[in-house]
Amino acid sequence: MTDTLVAASPATTASTVGEERLARRMARGAAFLGTDVAIMAGAMSWVSERHLVAAISNAGGFGVIACGAMTVDLLDREIAATKAMTDKPFGVNLITMHPDLMALIDVCARHGVGHVVLAGGLPPKGSLEAIKAGGAKVICFAPTLALAKKLIRSGIDALVIEGMEAGGHIGPVSTSVLAQEMLPELSEQLPVFVAGGIGRGEAIAGYLDMGAAGVQLGTRFVCATESIAHANFKKAFIRASARDAVASVQLDPRLPVIPVRALRNAGGELFTAKQREVAGHLDEGRVAMAEAQLQIEHYWAGALRRAVIDGDVEHGSVMAGQSVGMVTKEEPAAAIIAELMAEAEHALDKRAG
Ligand SMILES: Cc1cc2nc3c(=O)[nH]c(=O)nc-3n(C[C@H](O)[C@H](O)[C@H](O)COP(=O)(O)O)c2cc1C
Repeated sequence: MTDTLVAASPATTASTVGEERLARRMARGAAFLGTDVAIMAGAMSWVSERHLVAAISNAGGFGVIACGAMTVDLLDREIAATKAMTDKPFGVNLITMHPDLMALIDVCARHGVGHVVLAGGLPPKGSLEAIKAGGAKVICFAPTLALAKKLIRSGIDALVIEGMEAGGHIGPVSTSVLAQEMLPELSEQLPVFVAGGIGRGEAIAGYLDMGAAGVQLGTRFVCATESIAHANFKKAFIRASARDAVASVQLDPRLPVIPVRALRNAGGELFTAKQREVAGHLDEGRVAMAEAQLQIEHYWAGALRRAVIDGDVEHGSVMAGQSVGMVTKEEPAAAIIAELMAEAEHALDKRAG
C-alpha cells in the first residue's frame, strides 16, 4: 500500500480507532475501485441489474452488473440504465464462454465502464488486451495459486478468490484455506478481493488483516430493498439457515458439471433428471462434451430465472451461499453496507485494547 493511498483514504476523518484502522486497511481496494469502501457486490445473474447495482454504488460500495447470457443489445441498455441511476463507479461481469464476448467488451468500452470482471474460466485469447485497450481494469477469479500467478503474468489488474461457501457456481476449496494460501503470496503484487461465506463485518476485518484489499459479497445483498428478486426468493433467503445451502451433486462421472450452491428444494431433483438426460445424449453421440456442458449451464440460467423472476422457489434454482443464515430481513443496500462497516470497525476497535 502506498502512502498516497493512505493519505487519500477517509482515515483522516475517522473518529474511532476502529474506523481509522478499517479505512486504512480498505484504502488500497477503495482506490482501485474508485469507491468509498472496498466492498464489491458480486454479480448475480437476474439479481444484479440496474436497481441493485446503482443502489450499491450510491451507498459507497461497488455494484457489478451480471451480464450472464444477456445479448449485446441488452447489456448496452442495462449499462445505460445503470448510468442514469448512479454517477458512481460500477463494474460489469462477463462470462468467458459467452459467444459474443468480444462484442460485449466493446459495449463496455463504448460506455467507459471502468472495471470488467471476467468469470467462468480462463480469459480467451485477446480478451484481456481488448478490455485494457478499452480503458477498463480487468478483475479475474483465481481458483488456485498456480492459476493466479499465470493470470498475473498475463496482465490482470486484480483478483477475486472465492471459496466454496459462496452461492452459485463454486470450486472445491473453502474461503479460509484459499485466503491463507493466496493472500501472503499475492497481496503485495495486486489487489485481492476475498469472497464466499462473508455475512458480517468481523469476517471482513479478518480478511483485511490477512492482506485482502477488500471483499466481495453476493448472498448478503440479495434481500436488499432495491433488489428486484421476487418476494418468494427473498422470503426463502430470510427463512433459510446455513445448512440449507447445499452444493449440487455430479450424477455421471463422464459429464463433469461445476457444482452450484443453492437452497435445497425439488429443483435439485429436476437437475438430476437434466443431467441424466444430457448424459444419455452424450452416450448416444447426439451431442459433444462441450455442447453437453453448455446445455447444463443453460439449464442453470433458466432455473435461476424461474426462482428469481417468476418466484418459483420450489422448482427453480435458489442459488445462495452458506451466509444465507445471516440474512434476516429486507433492508436498503446502504443499511447493509453501513452494518458491515460498523461490525468491521468494532472488531478492529476491540483489537486496540
Ligand atoms: C443468486 C446468485 C447468483 C449468482 N450469479 C453469478 C453470476 O452470474 N456470475 C458470477 O460470476 N457469480 C455469480 N454469483 C456469485 C457472486 O457473484 C458472489 O461471488 C458470491 O455470491 C459471493 O459469495 P457469498 O454468496 O457467500 O457472498 C452468484 C451468486 C448468487 C447467490
